Amino acid sequence: MVDVVLLNASPRENSNTLQILNVCKEVIEENGLSAKILSLKSKKIESCTACGECGNLGVCSIDDGLNEIIEEIRKADGFIPASPVYFGTARGDLMSALQRIGFVSKQSDQFLSWMVGGPIAVARRGGQSLTLQEMTMFFPINEMIIPGSIYWNIVFAQAEGTALEDEEGVATIQRFGENVAKLIQKIRD
Ligand SMILES: Cc1cc2nc3c(=O)[nH]c(=O)nc-3n(C[C@H](O)[C@H](O)[C@H](O)COP(=O)(O)O)c2cc1C
Repeated sequence: MVDVVLLNASPRENSNTLQILNVCKEVIEENGLSAKILSLKSKKIESCTACGECGNLGVCSIDDGLNEIIEEIRKADGFIPASPVYFGTARGDLMSALQRIGFVSKQSDQFLSWMVGGPIAVARRGGQSLTLQEMTMFFPINEMIIPGSIYWNIVFAQAEGTALEDEEGVATIQRFGENVAKLIQKIRD
């Protein structure tokens, strides 16, 4: 079991999104919690089929590997999904994953309720704000709690492995990770 699950939606090997999640994970661990980065890379995530079977099964009826991620999130107290921006919005597989994770939670044991976290968007030049808003919709409807940071959780980077050059983006994610860890511990007190 880990305290905070981070989910990387980039398919790239030396991914900027992964670099930023590593920064976030490091800060969460420095603040006393365990953290693990999971990935959608190499999975073919399908969209919700609205079958409603999650109400009986407690997991998703689609067998594409998302249930392994759902089980990790179910046991955690924090959840941070991160996506590269594709044509001004989040990757489709990440949104499909969030919609299915949310539906499983709502239809079964509401494991997302009172979880702490928030989204991160990474892009070359534009669309981070809308992408962040798109992913943010998942949190309040599932009774989740999003702490703030010194800026919105957006990072600028294009070529693979260059995300750490965005110093303000890195500092924003570091403070966000710190606030996620501190808030989880406050809630547990
Ligand atoms: C299909 C595609 C669409 C993209 N659309 C945008 C975009 O709308 N805005 C932008 O600033 N960057 C866009 N990018 C660039 C990526 O968001 C950017 O390279 C990012 O750092 C990739 O993160 P990753 O290395 O974690 O995959 C796009 C890249 C691809 C492959």
